Amino acid sequence: MSTHGAGTTRERIDALLARRAELVAPEDSRAVRRQRENGKLTARERVEALLDPGSFTELDALARHRTHDFAMDRHRPAGDGIVVGHGTVDGRRVCLYAYDFTVLGGSLGEVNGGKIVKLMDLALRIGAPVIGINDSGGARVQEGVVSLARYGELIKRHVEASGVVPQISLMVGPCAGGAVYGPAITDFVVMVDGISNMQVTGAEVMRTVTGQEVDPEELGGAHRNSAVSGNSHYLARDEKDAFEYVRLLLGYLPSNNTADPPVYAATEDPGPRPADLALDAVIPDGRNQPYDMTEVVRTVLDGGELLEVQPLFARNIVCGFGRVDGHSVGVVANQPAFMAGVLDIDASEKAARFIRLCDAFHIPVVTFVDVPGFLPSLEQERHGIIRRGAKLIYAYAEATVPMVTVVTRKAYGGGYGVMGSKHLGTDVNLAWPTAEIAVMGGDSAVTLLHRRELAAADDPEAERERLRAEYEQQLCNPYIAADRGYVDAVIVPSETRREIADALAALRGKRVDRLPRKHGNIPL
Ligand code: HXC
Repeated sequence: MSTHGAGTTRERIDALLARRAELVAPEDSRAVRRQRENGKLTARERVEALLDPGSFTELDALARHRTHDFAMDRHRPAGDGIVVGHGTVDGRRVCLYAYDFTVLGGSLGEVNGGKIVKLMDLALRIGAPVIGINDSGGARVQEGVVSLARYGELIKRHVEASGVVPQISLMVGPCAGGAVYGPAITDFVVMVDGISNMQVTGAEVMRTVTGQEVDPEELGGAHRNSAVSGNSHYLARDEKDAFEYVRLLLGYLPSNNTADPPVYAATEDPGPRPADLALDAVIPDGRNQPYDMTEVVRTVLDGGELLEVQPLFARNIVCGFGRVDGHSVGVVANQPAFMAGVLDIDASEKAARFIRLCDAFHIPVVTFVDVPGFLPSLEQERHGIIRRGAKLIYAYAEATVPMVTVVTRKAYGGGYGVMGSKHLGTDVNLAWPTAEIAVMGGDSAVTLLHRRELAAADDPEAERERLRAEYEQQLCNPYIAADRGYVDAVIVPSETRREIADALAALRGKRVDRLPRKHGNIPL
């Protein structure tokens, strides 16, 4: 295309319109055909699918790379392989960028990287969430260190935006290098089954360097990253499902850290509904019998709607968003139906990061406790459960948002202390009559305290049973903690929804001042 710098005014306007038409015209290149064969949408289709119809304003659509090496000057597509701009989701402004894999593998160079940097600066000025749609081979090899420098600048923006505006990364293709480390810094990573892949070192390089043959799906596939490594917060069925998850997430979040999350109309009947009354029967009589904590959580949330974050990772703890009387809350809940709800490294890190996100964006934290403690395990100790479990304690103790905790059953030892206990700064602590707030369960306590009596007993099993019953009777209840004000009230389970709603309403104006400091030093 010529530069269209001459001619009448009409001719110049027509030239611009021609450029615009070219930009959005559906391409039929080999790369676009391959994109479709791989079951992927194009960058523009993705932007359209995510945003409210017709709301997209594109920026820097005409920017083109300036590289001459490697015959690059023969192909200088407008936009340089990244679609950038802003639009609305459910009427609220977001800034977004979408890598176009059909242009040099969605690689990032000086010019297209500059477009994202500029967009992020805008997002910070206007206080809008940033959504990145990633489908990219990372730093553009032909641009060498210049592309690495751009990635550095971009990643610095992600860090500056952290805790200021929500940042969400969609991984919708193979992503490598900067295209995974940038997203890793953002608040949420969403992957799509079958098309997303993210890893630091690809399978081919791994084979070359280490001689190890690895299946790319096993290495960096969406399922692996969502269920095992925890790099991804949601495994979407397809791109449509991924966009829907992002839209739902945004509905719980404020646009930035100076705003509050959107408030919806309170829809629930305040009186005890059948679902509330069902909570009175949810705890099994057998102390070690499992039950599904999400049933309890959903009963408390408007419409029973819980949007889980990392639902496949560390399933022994549930983290997610919901609403109480129309206001966003973040829920953290031990899950007795999975590994008895024990706390391990993954669960601690999952919950710690979630609580810090809620705290950064003024979302109250509601905690449901049924935890036997930290997982006793050689492997866990070796992998640093002390330092990594400490993140969870740190996150609760650091948070200044309204916090409400409900102990449904076990709250033993470190588990009691960590899971939103009064002593860490939780505002309202409630317990069900089935709560067992103690240093440890009956079996462990009897073994520890009565070794000699048991060894000397005529019938050790009967003696163990007697001692256990005595210990449980004395210590495994909520009343000793209530006696000292460590729990504010012991409530009937069916009262839980109303009690939480009342507590959160009272806490809406909560303000906490902290001593000035540069930042704390959370154990990483
Ligand atoms: C330039 C690239 C590219 C890149 C892909 N392409 N990655 N061009 N720079 N980084 C081009 C390919 O040459 C190819 O061009 C087209 O994009 C499609 O790529 P394919 O390899 O055919 O696609 P696929 O088989 O789907 O594999 C995708 C891929 C692979 C897994 C992403 O392309 C890949 O491994 N790319 C390199 C990844 C990488 O090592 N990047 C550098 C990371 S360093 P043609 O013309 O054949 O269609 C980094 C540092 C960041 O990012 C620093 C942060 C601080």
